[in-house]
Amino acid sequence: MKLTEAQRLQFEQDGYLFFPGHFSPEETRTLTDAVPDIYAKREAWNIREKDSDAVRTNFAAHLHSEPFAKLGRHPRMIEPVMDLFDEEVYMHQFKINGKMAFEGDVWQWHQDYGTWLNDDQMPTERAMNVAIFLDDVDEFNGPLMFIPGSHRKGVIDAQHDLTTTSYPLWTVNNDLIRQLVDRAGGRNGGIVSPKGPAGSMILFHSCLVHASGSNLSPFNRVAVYLSLCAVSNHIRRYKRPEYIAHRDFTPIALLPDDCLLKPYAVDLPWKDGLPPSALETSLEPITAMAED
Ligand code: SIN
Ligand code: MN
Repeated sequence: MKLTEAQRLQFEQDGYLFFPGHFSPEETRTLTDAVPDIYAKREAWNIREKDSDAVRTNFAAHLHSEPFAKLGRHPRMIEPVMDLFDEEVYMHQFKINGKMAFEGDVWQWHQDYGTWLNDDQMPTERAMNVAIFLDDVDEFNGPLMFIPGSHRKGVIDAQHDLTTTSYPLWTVNNDLIRQLVDRAGGRNGGIVSPKGPAGSMILFHSCLVHASGSNLSPFNRVAVYLSLCAVSNHIRRYKRPEYIAHRDFTPIALLPDDCLLKPYAVDLPWKDGLPPSALETSLEPITAMAED
């Protein structure tokens, strides 16, 4: 799947593209049905909400669950990013965010690249998020919010927030958010939140400033995020465990477009649990580690 010239221009201007109903209900169901078993596991890769047992984020399902392994090689998600970068990509991060009914907590305003730079030493912003909704998303169940055009500011000052939620993040302070929203149009388009049926896809720039509120509704808002990085732009240190920031920089080999509905062989190297090496971390640059 290639982007049109108009989509490229819109992406450059707004920092995101929205594709409502990009995957069929049948395709989406193969993923949604696999989530409860994944969330039930007591593994390090399931991060639970601060004050409840609900899963906030599951990491690396493309390495331990068959339907998600296929999604991690799906051309409808990955080709547009390869097209924009004009380069092959590898999987930097793979997450299934719960945002469960009544329990899903906030994500503070942030840029993903802020974390990838500060924690993982990813050299440039040549990395992209592609999200797919596994539930219908509306104004009630904590939709993602974007500040359109904020990606054009590059890397913005951020503070390491270790307390607000159960997941550490480099977040942007309220004064800067106020300015960015004002410049993007204030109440007239300064914040947008793409909403649509399960199976919808969002592609967004790694510097686009985004957040989401809590989910006080009785409707889950499960969504999958593939963070794809240009192979030449791979991370330069392993400060975070491997299930959060991956260390296999091999270009993703795409499956056919019908892969969610047909059997295709996929590797599941972590299906029996996390290997101990995936928990090892280091502050050394990886080139120095290689020389040791
Ligand atoms: C994220 O920013 O990585 C997740 C936000 C969300 O799922 O609402
Ligand atoms: Mn994010």
